[in-house]
Amino acid sequence: MKNYLIVGGSRGIGKEIVNQIPENSTIHVISRSGYSGERKNVTNYLIDVTTEDFPEIDNIDHLIYCPGSIQLKPINSLKIEDFQADFDINVLGAVKAIKQYHRIIKRQKGSIVLFSTVASKIGMPFHASVAASKAAVEGLGKSLAAEFAPEIRVNVIAPTVTDTDLASHILRNEKAREATADRHPMKQFLNPSDVAALALFLTSDNAKAITGQIIGMDAGIGSIK
Ligand SMILES: NC(=O)c1ccc[n+]([C@@H]2O[C@H](COP(=O)([O-])OP(=O)(O)OC[C@H]3O[C@@H](n4cnc5c(N)ncnc54)[C@H](OP(=O)(O)O)[C@@H]3O)[C@@H](O)[C@H]2O)c1
Repeated sequence: MKNYLIVGGSRGIGKEIVNQIPENSTIHVISRSGYSGERKNVTNYLIDVTTEDFPEIDNIDHLIYCPGSIQLKPINSLKIEDFQADFDINVLGAVKAIKQYHRIIKRQKGSIVLFSTVASKIGMPFHASVAASKAAVEGLGKSLAAEFAPEIRVNVIAPTVTDTDLASHILRNEKAREATADRHPMKQFLNPSDVAALALFLTSDNAKAITGQIIGMDAGIGSIK
């Protein structure tokens, strides 16, 4: 039986991860509003990861850190506070979680999955703040993969637009949804359940040789024309 901690498991990709976690697992969710889906036996911890301490949890095999941001503004409109807020939620929240739980995960020989964005790989207008923070997440993931090997695997998923609350302003109407799909080589954006499946694959034994990777899930936009 494996023990999963999903930070940000109440909505979006994190909620889909919780829904897909193998049966007979222990599931812990940290978020501000709590997981309220179909899965039973989920332990909720209501915490704002930017301002509060993480709870004591005895057993964790796999930590998946989902909270993030998409704050798209031209540099003239981006305040220093915007950069700080993006760094707090994307980077320092993950750092706090890893500092709190890495000894337990090490004991279990488990794994950590973090989230970046395709906008850290290819320059996109108005993404300066989020791209800077997510590039930091990628550096954090690779560095800790080296530090924690061979006990803990650490990988980062870099998705393109995914149909969650976070991207609702990008996918705001049918025309915007079509335009978003159309600018990807595979003519689609992502479904949160597909991203969740990749995250859980990375925690599984089938991924036992995968660590220190930034894995693009981006309908081709990060690599091909
Ligand atoms: N959606 C996209 O298009 C997209 C694209 C590229 C990368 N990503 C990345 O993928 C990851 C998941 O994205 P998503 O679309 O699933 O995001 P989402 O829909 O906004 O869900 C974020 C989750 O994190 C929790 N959360 C947010 N702020 C929190 C805080 N301060 N304290 C505790 N929990 C907090 C939310 O729960 P509560 O509100 O209940 O706290 C929610 O469960 C993020 O890192 C994001 O940057 C997403």
